[in-house]
Amino acid sequence: MAFIPEDKLLEIKDAARIEEVVGQYVQLQQRGKNLLGLCPFHPDTAPSFTVSPDKGIFHCFGCGAGGNVFSFLMQHQRLSFPEAVQELARRYGITITMKDLGPEGGRQAKKRQLMQEINKEAAAFYQTCLAGAKGEKGRAYIKKRGLTKEVIRDFHIGYAPEEWDALRKHLQNKGISLDAAQEVGLLVPRTQGGYYDRFRDRLMFPILDRQERVIAFGGRIIGTAEGAKYLNSPETPLYSKGRTLYGLPQAQEALRLTGVALVVEGYMDLLALRVHGVANVVATLGTALTKEQVRLLKNQVAKAVLVFDGDVAGARAMRRAFPIFASEGLAVRVLPLPAGLDPDTYAFQHGVELFQSPWDKAQPWFAFLVEELIKAHGLDVEGRVRIAEELRPYFQALSDQVEQGLWLHFAGERLGVDEAALRRSLSSAAPVAAKGLDSGQARLINEEERLLRWVLHHPDIVPLEELEEWARDFENQELKCLLELVISSLKEDGALDHSLLIQRVEEEHLRQQICALTLGKGEPFTEHLAAEWRRDRQMRRLKKALAHIKEELAKAAAVTGGEDLLALQVQKLEIEQQLQELKFF
Ligand code: UTP
Ligand code: MN
Repeated sequence: MAFIPEDKLLEIKDAARIEEVVGQYVQLQQRGKNLLGLCPFHPDTAPSFTVSPDKGIFHCFGCGAGGNVFSFLMQHQRLSFPEAVQELARRYGITITMKDLGPEGGRQAKKRQLMQEINKEAAAFYQTCLAGAKGEKGRAYIKKRGLTKEVIRDFHIGYAPEEWDALRKHLQNKGISLDAAQEVGLLVPRTQGGYYDRFRDRLMFPILDRQERVIAFGGRIIGTAEGAKYLNSPETPLYSKGRTLYGLPQAQEALRLTGVALVVEGYMDLLALRVHGVANVVATLGTALTKEQVRLLKNQVAKAVLVFDGDVAGARAMRRAFPIFASEGLAVRVLPLPAGLDPDTYAFQHGVELFQSPWDKAQPWFAFLVEELIKAHGLDVEGRVRIAEELRPYFQALSDQVEQGLWLHFAGERLGVDEAALRRSLSSAAPVAAKGLDSGQARLINEEERLLRWVLHHPDIVPLEELEEWARDFENQELKCLLELVISSLKEDGALDHSLLIQRVEEEHLRQQICALTLGKGEPFTEHLAAEWRRDRQMRRLKKALAHIKEELAKAAAVTGGEDLLALQVQKLEIEQQLQELKFF
Protein backbone atom coordinates (compact mmCIF):
# COMPACT_ATOMS: atom_id res chain seq x y z
CA MET A 1 0.00 0.00 0.00
CA ALA A 2 0.88 3.61 -0.49
CA PHE A 3 4.07 3.17 -2.44
CA ILE A 4 6.11 1.32 0.16
CA PRO A 5 7.02 -2.01 -1.39
CA GLU A 6 5.33 -4.93 0.27
CA ASP A 7 8.51 -6.92 0.83
CA LYS A 8 9.85 -3.98 2.83
CA LEU A 9 6.69 -3.87 4.87
CA LEU A 10 6.96 -7.59 5.50
CA GLU A 11 10.52 -7.20 6.67
CA ILE A 12 9.57 -4.47 9.13
CA LYS A 13 6.43 -6.23 10.26
CA ASP A 14 8.37 -9.40 11.02
CA ALA A 15 10.96 -7.51 13.04
CA ALA A 16 8.52 -5.27 14.88
CA ARG A 17 6.49 -7.87 16.76
CA ILE A 18 3.09 -6.42 17.52
CA GLU A 19 3.11 -7.56 21.14
CA GLU A 20 6.43 -5.82 21.67
CA VAL A 21 5.42 -2.54 20.03
CA VAL A 22 2.01 -2.39 21.70
CA GLY A 23 3.58 -3.51 24.96
CA GLN A 24 5.60 -0.32 25.11
CA TYR A 25 2.39 1.65 25.55
CA VAL A 26 -0.11 -0.80 26.98
CA GLN A 27 0.33 -3.27 29.83
CA LEU A 28 -0.47 -6.65 28.38
CA GLN A 29 -1.18 -9.95 30.04
CA GLN A 30 -1.07 -13.35 28.47
CA ARG A 31 -4.52 -14.83 28.02
CA GLY A 32 -4.31 -18.09 26.12
CA LYS A 33 -2.73 -17.49 22.75
CA ASN A 34 -3.49 -13.78 22.91
CA LEU A 35 -2.55 -10.85 25.13
CA LEU A 36 -5.05 -8.68 26.91
CA GLY A 37 -4.90 -5.12 28.26
CA LEU A 38 -6.75 -1.87 28.81
CA CYS A 39 -7.60 -0.21 25.51
CA PRO A 40 -5.59 2.98 24.88
CA PHE A 41 -8.20 4.27 22.45
CA HIS A 42 -11.21 4.58 24.76
CA PRO A 43 -11.87 4.74 28.49
CA ASP A 44 -11.62 1.10 29.35
CA THR A 45 -12.26 -0.47 32.72
CA ALA A 46 -12.38 -4.17 31.92
CA PRO A 47 -9.51 -5.22 29.68
CA SER A 48 -11.07 -5.27 26.21
CA PHE A 49 -7.94 -4.82 24.15
CA THR A 50 -6.67 -8.00 22.52
CA VAL A 51 -3.39 -8.53 20.74
CA SER A 52 -2.71 -11.62 18.69
CA PRO A 53 1.00 -12.29 18.25
CA ASP A 54 0.21 -15.17 15.87
CA LYS A 55 -1.84 -13.10 13.52
CA GLY A 56 -0.05 -9.81 14.05
CA ILE A 57 -3.18 -7.84 14.75
CA PHE A 58 -5.06 -6.15 17.59
CA HIS A 59 -8.72 -5.57 18.31
CA CYS A 60 -10.72 -3.86 21.03
CA PHE A 61 -14.07 -5.40 21.92
CA GLY A 62 -15.13 -2.16 23.52
CA CYS A 63 -14.57 0.48 20.89
CA GLY A 64 -13.93 -1.62 17.82
CA ALA A 65 -10.44 -0.29 17.15
CA GLY A 66 -8.31 -2.75 15.26
CA GLY A 67 -5.39 -3.15 12.90
CA ASN A 68 -1.82 -4.32 12.60
CA VAL A 69 1.42 -2.98 14.04
CA PHE A 70 1.49 -0.06 11.61
CA SER A 71 -2.08 1.01 12.26
CA PHE A 72 -1.46 0.76 15.99
CA LEU A 73 1.43 3.18 15.84
CA MET A 74 -0.46 5.47 13.46
CA GLN A 75 -3.43 5.69 15.79
CA HIS A 76 -1.51 5.77 19.02
CA GLN A 77 1.22 8.22 18.04
CA ARG A 78 -0.87 10.00 15.43
CA LEU A 79 1.50 9.31 12.62
CA SER A 80 0.83 9.02 8.94
CA PHE A 81 1.37 5.60 7.41
CA PRO A 82 4.82 6.41 5.99
CA GLU A 83 5.81 7.92 9.32
CA ALA A 84 4.73 4.84 11.23
CA VAL A 85 6.65 2.62 8.83
CA GLN A 86 9.72 4.78 9.13
CA GLU A 87 9.52 4.93 12.88
CA LEU A 88 9.37 1.14 13.19
CA ALA A 89 12.12 0.73 10.63
CA ARG A 90 14.25 3.10 12.66
CA ARG A 91 13.55 1.30 15.92
CA TYR A 92 14.36 -2.09 14.42
CA GLY A 93 17.34 -1.02 12.36
CA ILE A 94 15.84 -1.55 8.92
CA THR A 95 16.87 0.85 6.19
CA ILE A 96 14.20 2.55 4.14
CA THR A 97 15.22 4.73 1.27
CA MET A 98 13.29 7.78 0.16
CA LYS A 99 12.53 5.80 -2.95
CA ASP A 100 10.77 3.19 -0.83
CA LEU A 101 8.47 5.91 0.52
CA GLY A 102 7.17 7.00 -2.84
CA PRO A 103 6.70 10.59 -3.99
CA GLU A 104 4.10 11.80 -1.44
CA GLY A 105 5.39 9.89 1.57
CA GLY A 106 8.92 10.89 0.72
CA ARG A 107 8.02 14.53 0.37
CA GLN A 108 6.26 14.61 3.74
CA ALA A 109 9.00 12.71 5.49
CA LYS A 110 11.65 15.00 4.04
CA LYS A 111 9.75 18.04 5.12
CA ARG A 112 9.34 16.84 8.68
CA GLN A 113 12.96 15.88 8.79
CA LEU A 114 13.99 19.31 7.59
CA MET A 115 11.74 20.99 10.15
CA GLN A 116 13.23 18.88 12.90
CA GLU A 117 16.73 19.76 11.83
CA ILE A 118 15.95 23.45 11.80
CA ASN A 119 14.41 23.31 15.27
CA LYS A 120 17.38 21.35 16.52
CA GLU A 121 19.77 23.88 15.06
CA ALA A 122 17.79 26.79 16.52
CA ALA A 123 17.66 25.18 19.97
CA ALA A 124 21.42 24.71 19.89
CA PHE A 125 21.85 28.30 18.76
CA TYR A 126 19.70 29.69 21.57
CA GLN A 127 21.59 27.57 24.10
CA THR A 128 24.90 28.87 22.83
CA CYS A 129 23.60 32.42 23.02
CA LEU A 130 22.53 31.94 26.63
CA ALA A 131 26.00 30.80 27.58
CA GLY A 132 27.85 33.39 25.45
CA ALA A 133 28.50 37.09 25.14
CA LYS A 134 24.99 37.89 23.97
CA GLY A 135 23.40 36.02 26.85
CA GLU A 136 23.97 38.46 29.69
CA LYS A 137 20.31 39.45 29.97
CA GLY A 138 19.14 35.88 29.69
CA ARG A 139 21.48 34.74 32.46
CA ALA A 140 20.40 37.58 34.70
CA TYR A 141 16.76 36.67 34.18
CA ILE A 142 17.39 33.00 34.87
CA LYS A 143 19.05 33.95 38.11
CA LYS A 144 16.13 36.13 39.06
CA ARG A 145 13.71 33.28 38.40
CA GLY A 146 15.84 30.80 40.33
CA LEU A 147 16.40 28.28 37.55
CA THR A 148 19.30 25.93 38.19
CA LYS A 149 22.02 24.61 35.88
CA GLU A 150 20.48 21.14 35.92
CA VAL A 151 17.09 22.41 34.90
CA ILE A 152 18.59 24.60 32.16
CA ARG A 153 20.40 21.54 30.87
CA ASP A 154 17.55 19.04 31.14
CA PHE A 155 15.11 21.39 29.45
CA HIS A 156 17.56 22.71 26.87
CA ILE A 157 16.69 26.28 27.83
CA GLY A 158 18.24 29.03 25.72
CA TYR A 159 18.14 32.72 24.98
CA ALA A 160 17.11 34.53 21.80
CA PRO A 161 19.28 37.67 21.56
CA GLU A 162 17.86 41.16 21.35
CA GLU A 163 18.47 41.41 17.60
CA TRP A 164 16.34 41.29 14.50
CA ASP A 165 18.40 38.79 12.59
CA ALA A 166 20.67 36.78 14.89
CA LEU A 167 18.99 33.45 14.15
CA ARG A 168 18.40 34.29 10.50
CA LYS A 169 22.09 34.94 9.96
CA HIS A 170 23.01 31.79 11.81
CA LEU A 171 20.68 29.64 9.75
CA GLN A 172 21.83 31.31 6.55
CA ASN A 173 25.47 30.58 7.40
CA LYS A 174 24.54 26.96 7.91
CA GLY A 175 22.92 26.90 4.48
CA ILE A 176 19.49 26.19 5.91
CA SER A 177 16.38 27.10 3.91
CA LEU A 178 14.90 30.30 5.34
CA ASP A 179 11.54 29.48 3.80
CA ALA A 180 11.48 26.28 5.81
CA ALA A 181 12.54 28.19 8.93
CA GLN A 182 9.57 30.44 8.39
CA GLU A 183 7.33 27.40 8.12
CA VAL A 184 8.36 26.17 11.55
CA GLY A 185 7.68 29.65 12.86
CA LEU A 186 11.20 30.78 13.69
CA LEU A 187 11.37 33.50 11.07
CA VAL A 188 8.75 36.03 9.99
CA PRO A 189 8.63 37.46 6.44
CA ARG A 190 9.31 41.18 6.03
CA THR A 191 6.96 43.17 3.85
CA GLN A 192 9.90 44.38 1.78
CA GLY A 193 11.17 40.82 1.34
CA GLY A 194 13.45 38.66 3.45
CA TYR A 195 12.89 37.51 7.01
CA TYR A 196 13.40 38.63 10.59
CA ASP A 197 13.62 36.61 13.84
CA ARG A 198 10.34 35.86 15.51
CA PHE A 199 11.88 35.40 18.96
CA ARG A 200 13.95 38.31 20.24
CA ASP A 201 15.16 39.00 23.74
CA ARG A 202 13.31 36.01 25.09
CA LEU A 203 14.13 33.07 27.30
CA MET A 204 13.57 30.07 25.02
CA PHE A 205 11.86 26.86 26.06
CA PRO A 206 12.12 24.10 23.47
CA ILE A 207 9.14 21.74 23.43
CA LEU A 208 10.12 18.13 22.85
CA ASP A 209 8.23 15.15 21.53
CA ARG A 210 8.54 11.73 23.06
CA GLN A 211 11.56 10.93 20.97
CA GLU A 212 13.04 14.07 22.56
CA ARG A 213 13.12 15.96 19.28
CA VAL A 214 12.45 19.69 19.35
CA ILE A 215 9.04 20.25 17.79
CA ALA A 216 8.29 23.82 18.89
CA PHE A 217 9.38 26.68 21.15
CA GLY A 218 7.92 28.93 23.77
CA GLY A 219 9.67 32.22 24.47
CA ARG A 220 9.32 34.31 27.68
CA ILE A 221 9.81 37.99 27.21
CA ILE A 222 12.62 39.43 29.34
CA GLY A 223 12.80 43.14 28.80
CA THR A 224 9.92 45.51 28.51
CA ALA A 225 9.85 45.10 24.74
CA GLU A 226 6.56 44.96 22.89
CA GLY A 227 4.59 41.76 22.44
CA ALA A 228 2.90 39.06 24.48
CA LYS A 229 4.52 37.71 27.63
CA TYR A 230 4.93 34.37 25.94
CA LEU A 231 5.33 33.74 22.23
CA ASN A 232 4.83 30.21 20.98
CA SER A 233 5.58 28.39 17.77
CA PRO A 234 2.59 28.03 15.47
CA GLU A 235 1.00 24.68 14.74
CA THR A 236 3.08 22.80 12.19
CA PRO A 237 3.20 19.25 10.85
CA LEU A 238 5.53 18.60 13.81
CA TYR A 239 3.59 20.35 16.52
CA SER A 240 0.01 20.38 17.66
CA LYS A 241 -0.51 22.26 20.89
CA GLY A 242 -3.54 20.27 22.00
CA ARG A 243 -1.68 17.00 21.58
CA THR A 244 1.45 17.96 23.43
CA LEU A 245 2.31 18.23 27.09
CA TYR A 246 5.32 20.31 27.99
CA GLY A 247 7.88 18.38 30.00
CA LEU A 248 6.37 14.95 29.33
CA PRO A 249 9.57 13.34 28.00
CA GLN A 250 11.55 14.61 30.98
CA ALA A 251 8.85 13.48 33.43
CA GLN A 252 8.40 9.98 32.13
CA GLU A 253 10.62 8.23 34.64
CA ALA A 254 9.12 10.08 37.63
CA LEU A 255 5.59 9.45 36.36
CA ARG A 256 6.30 5.76 36.19
CA LEU A 257 7.76 5.70 39.69
CA THR A 258 5.02 7.72 41.39
CA GLY A 259 1.99 6.78 39.28
CA VAL A 260 0.70 10.33 39.71
CA ALA A 261 1.04 13.27 37.33
CA LEU A 262 0.93 16.86 38.53
CA VAL A 263 -0.59 19.05 35.84
CA VAL A 264 0.31 22.75 35.87
CA GLU A 265 -0.40 25.57 33.46
CA GLY A 266 2.90 27.17 32.60
CA TYR A 267 6.52 26.65 31.60
CA MET A 268 7.81 28.46 34.66
CA ASP A 269 5.48 26.57 37.00
CA LEU A 270 6.81 23.28 35.78
CA LEU A 271 10.43 24.42 35.88
CA ALA A 272 10.08 25.86 39.39
CA LEU A 273 8.81 22.52 40.65
CA ARG A 274 11.72 20.78 38.95
CA VAL A 275 14.11 23.21 40.64
CA HIS A 276 12.66 22.01 43.92
CA GLY A 277 13.05 18.37 43.01
CA VAL A 278 9.45 17.60 41.98
CA ALA A 279 9.77 15.75 38.68
CA ASN A 280 6.38 14.11 38.06
CA VAL A 281 4.96 17.23 36.46
CA VAL A 282 3.71 18.23 33.02
CA ALA A 283 2.33 21.53 31.74
CA THR A 284 -0.57 22.37 29.44
CA LEU A 285 0.87 25.69 28.24
CA GLY A 286 -2.02 27.93 29.02
CA THR A 287 -4.74 26.32 26.96
CA ALA A 288 -7.69 24.24 28.07
CA LEU A 289 -6.72 20.64 28.63
CA THR A 290 -7.74 18.40 25.75
CA LYS A 291 -8.89 14.81 25.46
CA GLU A 292 -5.68 13.97 23.66
CA GLN A 293 -3.57 15.32 26.49
CA VAL A 294 -5.55 13.34 29.04
CA ARG A 295 -4.96 10.25 26.94
CA LEU A 296 -1.24 10.95 26.88
CA LEU A 297 -1.32 11.04 30.67
CA LYS A 298 -3.44 7.94 30.91
CA ASN A 299 -0.74 6.00 29.13
CA GLN A 300 1.71 6.90 31.87
CA VAL A 301 -0.17 7.19 35.17
CA ALA A 302 -3.29 6.07 36.99
CA LYS A 303 -3.88 9.39 38.73
CA ALA A 304 -3.60 13.07 37.90
CA VAL A 305 -3.59 16.08 40.20
CA LEU A 306 -4.49 19.45 38.71
CA VAL A 307 -2.50 22.30 40.22
CA PHE A 308 -3.80 25.54 38.89
CA ASP A 309 -3.38 29.16 39.86
CA GLY A 310 -5.42 30.28 42.80
CA ASP A 311 -7.51 32.67 40.72
CA VAL A 312 -10.78 32.66 38.82
CA ALA A 313 -9.18 31.67 35.53
CA GLY A 314 -7.37 28.80 37.23
CA ALA A 315 -10.58 27.48 38.80
CA ARG A 316 -12.34 27.76 35.46
CA ALA A 317 -9.57 25.86 33.70
CA MET A 318 -9.86 23.08 36.26
CA ARG A 319 -13.61 22.93 35.91
CA ARG A 320 -13.43 22.57 32.18
CA ALA A 321 -10.97 19.71 32.54
CA PHE A 322 -13.09 17.59 34.91
CA PRO A 323 -15.54 16.14 32.38
CA ILE A 324 -12.65 15.14 30.15
CA PHE A 325 -10.96 13.20 32.93
CA ALA A 326 -14.27 11.68 33.94
CA SER A 327 -15.16 10.52 30.48
CA GLU A 328 -11.63 9.28 29.77
CA GLY A 329 -11.70 7.40 33.04
CA LEU A 330 -8.51 8.85 34.52
CA ALA A 331 -8.78 9.53 38.24
CA VAL A 332 -8.23 13.20 38.99
CA ARG A 333 -8.02 15.44 42.04
CA VAL A 334 -7.34 19.12 42.46
CA LEU A 335 -4.82 21.11 44.42
CA PRO A 336 -6.02 24.71 44.45
CA LEU A 337 -3.34 27.19 45.48
CA PRO A 338 -3.90 30.21 47.71
CA ALA A 339 -5.22 33.24 45.84
CA GLY A 340 -2.57 35.14 43.94
CA LEU A 341 -0.04 32.31 43.88
CA ASP A 342 0.89 30.05 41.01
CA PRO A 343 2.93 26.87 41.48
CA ASP A 344 6.11 28.81 40.68
CA THR A 345 5.62 31.56 43.27
CA TYR A 346 4.20 29.06 45.75
CA ALA A 347 7.21 26.77 45.50
CA PHE A 348 9.68 29.61 46.05
CA GLN A 349 7.70 31.03 49.00
CA HIS A 350 6.49 27.91 50.76
CA GLY A 351 8.54 25.01 49.40
CA VAL A 352 7.14 21.93 47.74
CA GLU A 353 5.82 19.82 50.58
CA LEU A 354 2.35 20.30 49.13
CA PHE A 355 3.47 18.68 45.88
CA GLN A 356 4.97 15.62 47.51
CA SER A 357 2.46 12.78 47.75
CA PRO A 358 0.03 15.19 46.08
CA TRP A 359 -2.79 12.69 45.72
CA ASP A 360 -3.32 12.58 49.49
CA LYS A 361 -3.18 16.33 49.81
CA ALA A 362 -5.50 17.05 46.90
CA GLN A 363 -9.29 17.29 46.99
CA PRO A 364 -11.69 15.13 45.06
CA TRP A 365 -12.67 17.22 42.08
CA PHE A 366 -16.37 16.91 42.67
CA ALA A 367 -16.19 18.29 46.18
CA PHE A 368 -14.06 21.14 44.89
CA LEU A 369 -16.58 21.85 42.17
CA VAL A 370 -19.52 21.94 44.57
CA GLU A 371 -17.69 24.37 46.86
CA GLU A 372 -16.78 26.58 43.90
CA LEU A 373 -20.39 26.70 42.79
CA ILE A 374 -21.57 27.50 46.30
CA LYS A 375 -19.06 30.35 46.40
CA ALA A 376 -20.40 31.61 43.08
CA HIS A 377 -24.14 31.25 43.61
CA GLY A 378 -24.74 31.02 47.33
CA LEU A 379 -27.04 28.65 49.19
CA ASP A 380 -30.33 30.47 48.94
CA VAL A 381 -33.10 28.80 46.96
CA GLU A 382 -32.17 30.40 43.62
CA GLY A 383 -28.54 29.60 44.18
CA ARG A 384 -29.19 25.98 44.96
CA VAL A 385 -31.41 25.56 41.92
CA ARG A 386 -28.73 27.09 39.78
CA ILE A 387 -26.04 24.88 41.29
CA ALA A 388 -28.09 21.73 40.72
CA GLU A 389 -28.46 22.79 37.10
CA GLU A 390 -24.79 23.49 36.62
CA LEU A 391 -23.80 20.21 38.22
CA ARG A 392 -25.84 18.21 35.76
CA PRO A 393 -23.28 17.84 32.96
CA TYR A 394 -20.62 16.85 35.48
CA PHE A 395 -22.83 14.14 36.91
CA GLN A 396 -23.48 12.92 33.43
CA ALA A 397 -19.79 12.77 32.64
CA LEU A 398 -19.26 10.29 35.48
CA SER A 399 -19.05 6.96 33.76
CA ASP A 400 -19.06 4.96 36.98
CA GLN A 401 -22.57 4.45 38.37
CA VAL A 402 -21.35 3.90 41.90
CA GLU A 403 -19.30 7.06 41.83
CA GLN A 404 -22.24 8.97 40.42
CA GLY A 405 -24.44 7.70 43.24
CA LEU A 406 -21.91 8.69 45.89
CA TRP A 407 -21.56 12.22 44.54
CA LEU A 408 -25.30 12.59 44.21
CA HIS A 409 -25.51 11.77 47.89
CA PHE A 410 -22.72 14.22 48.69
CA ALA A 411 -24.27 17.04 46.68
CA GLY A 412 -27.70 16.36 48.16
CA GLU A 413 -26.31 16.68 51.69
CA ARG A 414 -24.13 19.69 51.00
CA LEU A 415 -26.85 21.63 49.19
CA GLY A 416 -29.68 20.46 51.38
CA VAL A 417 -31.51 19.15 48.36
CA ASP A 418 -33.39 15.88 48.30
CA GLU A 419 -31.07 13.34 46.72
CA ALA A 420 -33.88 11.66 44.81
CA ALA A 421 -35.00 14.98 43.36
CA LEU A 422 -31.43 15.67 42.31
CA ARG A 423 -31.28 12.31 40.62
CA ARG A 424 -34.57 12.94 38.81
CA SER A 425 -33.48 16.34 37.58
CA LEU A 426 -30.36 14.69 36.38
CA SER A 427 -32.08 12.06 34.31
CA SER A 428 -34.92 14.25 33.02
CA ALA A 429 -32.71 16.37 30.83
CA ALA A 430 -30.07 13.76 30.36
CA PRO A 431 -29.06 13.15 26.80
CA VAL A 432 -29.06 9.48 26.00
CA ALA A 433 -25.67 8.33 27.15
CA ALA A 434 -23.51 7.18 24.31
CA LYS A 435 -23.45 3.47 24.83
CA GLY A 436 -20.84 2.49 22.34
CA LEU A 437 -19.88 -0.42 24.51
CA ASP A 438 -20.31 -4.02 23.52
CA SER A 439 -21.98 -3.03 20.28
CA GLY A 440 -19.18 -4.93 18.57
CA GLN A 441 -19.90 -8.06 20.52
CA ALA A 442 -23.64 -7.79 20.59
CA ARG A 443 -24.07 -6.98 16.94
CA LEU A 444 -26.21 -9.47 15.16
CA ILE A 445 -23.96 -11.65 13.20
CA ASN A 446 -25.45 -12.75 9.99
CA GLU A 447 -24.51 -15.78 8.07
CA GLU A 448 -22.09 -14.25 5.63
CA GLU A 449 -20.28 -12.71 8.49
CA ARG A 450 -20.16 -16.04 10.28
CA LEU A 451 -18.72 -17.67 7.21
CA LEU A 452 -16.09 -15.01 6.79
CA ARG A 453 -15.23 -15.24 10.46
CA TRP A 454 -14.76 -18.92 10.06
CA VAL A 455 -12.54 -18.52 7.01
CA LEU A 456 -10.41 -16.00 8.88
CA HIS A 457 -9.99 -18.49 11.71
CA HIS A 458 -9.39 -21.56 9.55
CA PRO A 459 -8.31 -20.32 6.14
CA ASP A 460 -6.96 -23.70 5.09
CA ILE A 461 -9.97 -25.92 5.69
CA VAL A 462 -12.41 -24.89 2.99
CA PRO A 463 -11.07 -25.59 -0.51
CA LEU A 464 -10.33 -22.50 -2.57
CA GLU A 465 -12.89 -23.43 -5.22
CA GLU A 466 -15.62 -23.57 -2.65
CA LEU A 467 -14.52 -20.23 -1.20
CA GLU A 468 -14.73 -18.72 -4.64
CA GLU A 469 -18.23 -20.04 -4.98
CA TRP A 470 -19.11 -18.50 -1.63
CA ALA A 471 -17.70 -15.18 -2.68
CA ARG A 472 -19.80 -15.18 -5.84
CA ASP A 473 -22.94 -15.62 -3.76
CA PHE A 474 -22.20 -13.16 -0.98
CA GLU A 475 -24.78 -10.42 -1.07
CA ASN A 476 -23.19 -8.00 1.32
CA GLN A 477 -20.73 -6.21 -0.95
CA GLU A 478 -18.25 -5.38 1.77
CA LEU A 479 -18.07 -8.92 3.08
CA LYS A 480 -17.83 -10.17 -0.47
CA CYS A 481 -14.92 -7.83 -1.09
CA LEU A 482 -13.19 -9.02 2.09
CA LEU A 483 -13.67 -12.66 1.19
CA GLU A 484 -12.26 -11.99 -2.26
CA LEU A 485 -9.24 -10.37 -0.67
CA VAL A 486 -8.77 -13.40 1.56
CA ILE A 487 -8.95 -15.63 -1.49
CA SER A 488 -6.43 -13.63 -3.47
CA SER A 489 -4.11 -13.53 -0.46
CA LEU A 490 -4.39 -17.28 -0.11
CA LYS A 491 -3.62 -17.69 -3.80
CA GLU A 492 -0.70 -15.29 -3.82
CA ASP A 493 0.97 -16.10 -0.52
CA GLY A 494 -0.16 -19.69 -0.14
CA ALA A 495 -1.27 -18.92 3.41
CA LEU A 496 -3.21 -16.20 5.14
CA ASP A 497 -1.18 -13.41 6.73
CA HIS A 498 -3.80 -11.39 8.63
CA SER A 499 -1.56 -8.45 9.24
CA LEU A 500 -0.69 -8.20 5.57
CA LEU A 501 -4.31 -8.66 4.61
CA ILE A 502 -5.13 -5.58 6.66
CA GLN A 503 -2.41 -3.68 4.90
CA ARG A 504 -4.12 -4.38 1.61
CA VAL A 505 -7.46 -2.97 2.73
CA GLU A 506 -7.81 0.76 2.27
CA GLU A 507 -10.91 1.52 4.34
CA GLU A 508 -10.39 1.87 8.04
CA HIS A 509 -13.72 0.32 9.00
CA LEU A 510 -13.03 -2.76 6.90
CA ARG A 511 -9.68 -3.23 8.59
CA GLN A 512 -11.40 -2.99 11.93
CA GLN A 513 -13.94 -5.50 10.78
CA ILE A 514 -11.27 -8.00 9.78
CA CYS A 515 -9.71 -7.70 13.22
CA ALA A 516 -13.08 -7.98 14.94
CA LEU A 517 -13.96 -11.09 12.97
CA THR A 518 -10.54 -12.65 13.47
CA LEU A 519 -10.16 -12.01 17.17
CA GLY A 520 -13.79 -11.79 18.21
CA LYS A 521 -15.42 -14.76 19.81
CA GLY A 522 -17.61 -16.65 17.42
CA GLU A 523 -19.26 -20.01 17.59
CA PRO A 524 -17.10 -22.72 16.13
CA PHE A 525 -17.80 -23.52 12.54
CA THR A 526 -19.53 -26.77 11.83
CA GLU A 527 -20.42 -28.57 8.67
CA HIS A 528 -23.93 -27.74 9.72
CA LEU A 529 -23.30 -24.04 9.19
CA ALA A 530 -22.01 -24.61 5.69
CA ALA A 531 -24.95 -26.84 4.84
CA GLU A 532 -27.36 -24.32 6.21
CA TRP A 533 -25.74 -21.60 4.27
CA ARG A 534 -25.91 -23.60 1.04
CA ARG A 535 -29.58 -24.21 1.67
CA ASP A 536 -30.29 -20.55 2.36
CA ARG A 537 -28.45 -19.60 -0.76
CA GLN A 538 -30.55 -22.00 -2.76
CA MET A 539 -33.71 -20.66 -1.17
CA ARG A 540 -32.76 -17.12 -2.01
CA ARG A 541 -32.18 -18.13 -5.59
CA LEU A 542 -35.51 -19.91 -5.84
CA LYS A 543 -37.39 -17.05 -4.28
CA LYS A 544 -35.88 -14.68 -6.74
CA ALA A 545 -36.88 -16.95 -9.60
CA LEU A 546 -40.36 -17.27 -8.17
CA ALA A 547 -40.78 -13.54 -7.95
CA HIS A 548 -39.66 -13.26 -11.53
CA ILE A 549 -42.14 -15.87 -12.74
CA LYS A 550 -44.96 -14.20 -10.87
CA GLU A 551 -44.18 -11.01 -12.72
CA GLU A 552 -44.13 -12.84 -16.02
CA LEU A 553 -47.41 -14.53 -15.15
CA ALA A 554 -49.05 -11.18 -14.50
CA LYS A 555 -47.81 -9.91 -17.84
CA ALA A 556 -48.95 -13.06 -19.67
CA ALA A 557 -52.36 -12.89 -18.10
CA ALA A 558 -52.76 -9.40 -19.44
CA VAL A 559 -52.31 -10.48 -23.04
CA THR A 560 -54.67 -13.04 -24.46
CA GLY A 561 -53.29 -16.34 -25.70
CA GLY A 562 -52.52 -18.65 -22.90
CA GLU A 563 -49.73 -21.04 -23.90
CA ASP A 564 -47.09 -19.03 -22.06
CA LEU A 565 -49.38 -18.87 -19.13
CA LEU A 566 -49.50 -22.62 -18.74
CA ALA A 567 -45.74 -23.09 -19.10
CA LEU A 568 -45.10 -20.41 -16.53
CA GLN A 569 -47.59 -21.92 -14.13
CA VAL A 570 -45.81 -25.24 -14.36
CA GLN A 571 -42.47 -23.60 -13.62
CA LYS A 572 -43.98 -21.79 -10.70
CA LEU A 573 -45.30 -24.98 -9.24
CA GLU A 574 -41.92 -26.63 -9.60
CA ILE A 575 -40.14 -23.88 -7.81
CA GLU A 576 -42.69 -23.82 -5.04
CA GLN A 577 -42.19 -27.53 -4.60
CA GLN A 578 -38.42 -27.14 -4.37
CA LEU A 579 -38.84 -24.43 -1.82
CA GLN A 580 -41.11 -26.66 0.24
CA GLU A 581 -38.53 -29.42 0.16
CA LEU A 582 -35.79 -27.11 1.25
CA LYS A 583 -37.85 -26.00 4.20
CA PHE A 584 -38.11 -29.58 5.46
CA PHE A 585 -34.44 -30.29 4.97
P1 UTP B 1 0.80 32.65 33.00
O1 UTP B 1 0.38 34.01 32.62
O2 UTP B 1 0.21 32.02 34.22
O3 UTP B 1 2.34 32.69 33.02
O4 UTP B 1 0.52 31.70 31.75
P2 UTP B 1 3.37 32.02 34.01
O5 UTP B 1 3.57 30.61 33.61
O6 UTP B 1 3.02 32.28 35.42
O7 UTP B 1 4.67 32.78 33.59
P3 UTP B 1 5.52 33.81 34.42
O8 UTP B 1 5.66 33.25 35.79
O9 UTP B 1 4.80 35.11 34.40
O10 UTP B 1 6.78 33.85 33.65
C1 UTP B 1 0.57 30.31 31.83
C2 UTP B 1 0.99 29.77 30.51
O11 UTP B 1 0.15 30.26 29.50
C3 UTP B 1 0.86 30.45 28.30
C4 UTP B 1 2.27 30.02 28.58
O12 UTP B 1 2.45 28.69 28.21
C5 UTP B 1 2.38 30.18 30.08
O13 UTP B 1 3.38 29.37 30.64
N1 UTP B 1 0.85 31.85 27.86
C6 UTP B 1 0.70 32.86 28.75
C7 UTP B 1 1.03 32.14 26.54
O14 UTP B 1 1.16 31.24 25.71
N2 UTP B 1 1.07 33.44 26.13
C8 UTP B 1 0.94 34.47 26.99
O15 UTP B 1 1.02 35.63 26.57
C9 UTP B 1 0.72 34.17 28.33
MN1 MN C 1 4.14 32.57 37.06
